[in-house]
Amino acid sequence: MINETNPEKMYLAMKAKLAAVVPDFELKIKSELAAEINRLKVEKNAVILGHNYMEPALFSSVPDFVGDSLELARKAAQTDKDIIVFCGVRFMAETAKLLNPKKTVLLPSEKAGCSLAESITGEDVRQLRLKFPGVPVVTYVNTYADVKAESDICCTSGNAKAVVESLHTDTVIFLPDEYLAKNIANETGKHIIFPSLDPRKKFANELDYQMIGWLGRCEVHDKFTVEDIANVRKQFPDVTILAHPECSPEVVAASDFSGSTTAMIRHVENTSASHYLLLTECAMGDNVAAANPDKEMLRLCSVRCPHMNQITLEETLESLRKIQYVIEIPEDILQRAARAVQRMIAIG
Ligand code: 13P
Ligand code: SF4
Repeated sequence: MINETNPEKMYLAMKAKLAAVVPDFELKIKSELAAEINRLKVEKNAVILGHNYMEPALFSSVPDFVGDSLELARKAAQTDKDIIVFCGVRFMAETAKLLNPKKTVLLPSEKAGCSLAESITGEDVRQLRLKFPGVPVVTYVNTYADVKAESDICCTSGNAKAVVESLHTDTVIFLPDEYLAKNIANETGKHIIFPSLDPRKKFANELDYQMIGWLGRCEVHDKFTVEDIANVRKQFPDVTILAHPECSPEVVAASDFSGSTTAMIRHVENTSASHYLLLTECAMGDNVAAANPDKEMLRLCSVRCPHMNQITLEETLESLRKIQYVIEIPEDILQRAARAVQRMIAIG
């Protein structure tokens, strides 16, 4: 965070951090917005949480805390401010609301969704429970509150293995990311099946499985391929390739490291490879490049998350000025969904 409300000083501070990744004319405009956001933040007693995928000008200026979904959920749980502005996507802002039902939680754009969250409904989970009675449901936080409300416990990419293992059961329903489920199955040694909700199709009815998955995918991480990796390795044989676990198991297997967005950032900070390639949302590559000017970052950057992309300094300023868009969750859903998130936070 740059704790600055003077536009000229803000411009100089942002330039010192971001000159290599943000054009100067853009820095001038963005620094004025950032300075005004910082002034309003104090006036309205707000805290700003920024996900690692925020564009560099936002990521480096106004958030009080930046991090992956798990770290930001923890920060949301701890804040004593009246307003939480979530610079991320809707499911993250909803998670903050679940942990702070009495506070005002703002999402700066109504369009900031997520392909994984949109892939499943609460009714889908109820149907799965009918098909697999007694099997605990682990839900990735990249879901909306109605889905969390039907779940026993949530997880993020940062703690999915620990959450699955904490249940000590042979069988787990893990929703809704097909690839994360497969990657966690590989890490935990659990077998995975993907049921269909079509009543005409037969379900596997013998308990020869340990995990039941769903066919949701992240529209960003789904785009990376093993061929991309082979091409980069041909050109840069010593490159270290890091893949988010929302990538396919084949891409994860062909990479050198896989972990949550913050785990990837730490890995770059703590190692010294000749080149790095991040297989994740594109803006994070810029943020990592800005923070590690001595490290050579390669770009495979045809993909920005269209949802994260909605959150800009312009939208964040409007959000604070107009107190929009307020996250509301119906009371009955809120209480049940909050329980699943609290159980996750208790595990770590
Ligand atoms: P992290 O929990 O690793 O920050 O990931 C969130 C996300 O949406 C990745 O696409
Ligand atoms: Fe959702 Fe993928 Fe965007 Fe993350 S990168 S918010 S999982 S669509």
